[in-house]
Amino acid sequence: MKIDKRDMWFIGLIVAVVSVFISISGKEKTKLVPNDSTHQIAYRAAYKNAPGPEASFFKRAFFKADKKGAEVYCEPCHTEQKVPFPPNHPPKNRCLFCHKLQPLKL
Ligand code: HEC
Ligand code: HEC
Repeated sequence: MKIDKRDMWFIGLIVAVVSVFISISGKEKTKLVPNDSTHQIAYRAAYKNAPGPEASFFKRAFFKADKKGAEVYCEPCHTEQKVPFPPNHPPKNRCLFCHKLQPLKL
């Protein structure tokens, strides 16, 4: 089979789509923020404006956790309690882009 320029475009597109999928699924494996008593302060900050169970469906569907409000607590405490970061840990500004919060139980 002869591979011409059009085929190369198509192969390139497939490679791009597959690599996007791989990079997304890789991110999903990043550890979640544990929902334990230590991390309650961060969860409370993130979900402080969360709509209650009586709120309308739309309010609950469009609620966004206050990630920036929660992130101010992460690094100071981890430093103070000497929680080790893995040696190859990526840049740490914006913890919650990578480490997701456990979903809010309404
Ligand atoms: C008040 C202190 C404190 C705060 C605030 C805090 N952490 Fe932690 N974190 C800890 C301690 C202690 C551990 C290790 C023991 C444990 O898992 O509870 C830990 C562990 C972790 C782990 C590893 C969990 C695992 O499964 O091994 C992640 C990820 C993490 N924290 C992310 C965060 C992020 C993101 C924030 C900010 C939203 C945050 N932490 C805020 C104290 C804190
Ligand atoms: C760019 C993405 C990214 C950001 C931002 C980030 N991390 Fe991580 N973190 C990772 C990856 C990837 C790992 C290693 C894989 C894993 O989650 O076990 C990791 C590992 C960790 C671990 C060790 C988990 C364990 O027990 O193995 C802790 C604790 C942690 N991060 C805390 C934080 C905190 C606190 C912040 C913010 C100050 C932060 N991370 C920001 C991607 C990120």
